[in-house]
This record gives sequence, C-alpha cells and structure tokens, in this order.
Amino acid sequence: MNNAFDLSGQRVFVTGAGGAIGGAAARACAALGADLAIVDLKAPDELARELHDAGTKVKAYALDNSIRADVEKVITEAGPLDALCDCSGYYVKGDWMDGGDDWETLYRKTMDVNVLGPVNLVRAVLPGMAERGTGRIALTTSMAARTAGSTLAVEPAYVASKGGLQAIVRYFARQVADKGIVVNAISPGPILTPLLISANQPFAVDHYPMKRLGKPEEIGWPLAFLCSRATGFMTGAVIDVNGGMAFS
Ligand SMILES: NC(=O)c1ccc[n+]([C@@H]2O[C@H](COP(=O)([O-])OP(=O)(O)OC[C@H]3O[C@@H](n4cnc5c(N)ncnc54)[C@H](O)[C@@H]3O)[C@@H](O)[C@H]2O)c1
Repeated sequence: MNNAFDLSGQRVFVTGAGGAIGGAAARACAALGADLAIVDLKAPDELARELHDAGTKVKAYALDNSIRADVEKVITEAGPLDALCDCSGYYVKGDWMDGGDDWETLYRKTMDVNVLGPVNLVRAVLPGMAERGTGRIALTTSMAARTAGSTLAVEPAYVASKGGLQAIVRYFARQVADKGIVVNAISPGPILTPLLISANQPFAVDHYPMKRLGKPEEIGWPLAFLCSRATGFMTGAVIDVNGGMAFS
C-alpha cells in the first residue's frame, strides 16, 4: 500500500516561509520528500539554502500575496503545483477604539493580507490543479476567529480576517470538491512566534491545559499533513491545533 503521507515528488508552494510557522511547514514538507517553492515578502533565501543543502529541490521567491498580478506571475513561474500551503499573515497590535484615523488603514491592510492574499493564491493555483484533477490547499486561520481573542487582546481586524478566511475555506472546498481538489485549514492557538511576540502581551500559560504555548513545528506538521494525499475525502475542515484550549 502506498504511503499517502509521503510527499516525494510532490510540488508544494509555501507562503510566509520567512516566518516561524511557514518555515516550520516548509521544513516538515521537505522532510516528507516534497519539492518546494517558498515565498515571503522578501525571498526566504536562507531557508532555501538550508533545505537545498539537506537535499530538497527548492526555489525561493519574493511575493506580496495581496497583489494579484504578482501572485499569478510567481505561481506560473513556480510551475505545476500539487499543494498550496499558505502561512502568511498580518497582525497589528493597538487600541483600535483609540487609534485615530490610522485604524482603518490597518484594518484594510489586515484584510488584504489575511483574506485577499489567500483568495489570490487559491484563485491562481485552481486552474492548473483542476486541469490535472488533483490538488491540496492548506490555509492558516486562527483560534481568534472563534474565541475572538480570549487568550490575547486582538484587534477586530484580525478576528474578522481569520473568521472570513474560515468561511472562505468552506466556500472553496465546496466549489472545487468535484475537481479532485481539497481545501482545508489549521486553526492554531497561541504559538511562540515573532507574530505573537510582537503582540507584547503576557500569557497566563499556567491556566492553559498544556501549561505552555505551542511551537511552530507543532503547526508545521499538521499543515504538511494537509498537503498530503492522506486528505482524499477531507475537505472544508478547519482543524483546531491549540493544546486543548478551545473545542469546536
Ligand atoms: N503565532 C500565533 O500564535 C498564531 C496563532 C494563530 C494563527 N497564526 C497564523 O499563522 C500564520 C503564520 O504566523 P506566524 O506566527 O508564523 O507569524 P510570522 O510573523 O512569523 O509569519 C508571518 C509571515 O507572513 C509574511 N507576510 C506578511 N504579509 C505578507 C504579504 N502581504 N505577502 C506575503 N507574505 C506576507 C511575513 O513576512 C511573515 O514572514 C499567520 O497566518 C498567523 O495569523 C499564528
């Protein structure tokens, strides 16, 4: 029987790869044998060198996911893809009620990166995947979409963007279910990454079921699973990975 978790020869496009969770997802996919295209606002060249030296076929690109023409260009350059793993994201900390005129700009930027960006990516990979009759799409939402930031005082823009993304997962899943393409997401709880550190807030980890924050690789591996052929009958799923902090 074939090992459906094996990504050997599978071409995976990982966004946000210069970040903590994206880097972990790229490393997990590489460890499972995938060929990679890794992207971030600045091309993640250092990660590309690390993965290349470990034997992975990898190309790095600079890409702003919120610019549709650039997304289409880079996805075309990257060549036919078996999986898209989107780990890009934007989070801004601030007091939105007291934020002056700036907060609307930040709201729009958050929606651009966290919702429009993934939509641009999905839109760009779908035609090729549909033509080949196979594809896996893995997106990264957040526990904040449902809990509205119970562990972290988040901005409404972040909550709205991640809630919107969860709805989009289900929308695309239905749209392409008969084309051999599955669309799923991981919904992480608090993970120790630069994004979380930038929030500059204390975490009462003693009250968390596991008494700790998550590690980037604890999201990277589940994302790699969503990029695998083990997801044949699984689509539209938003999977909690939060150390037991909140359940659907
Ligand atoms: N860290 C957490 O606690 C946590 C919890 C829930 C969800 N998430 C989500 O996980 C994902 C990864 O976050 P992380 O914690 O690794 O943060 P991170 O800041 O380390 O990584 C995010 C990456 O996205 C990139 N990015 C930002 N705007 C972009 C754009 N317009 N185009 C392309 N790339 C862009 C950044 O450059 C960065 O490398 C995000 O979607 C985040 O919202 C994180």
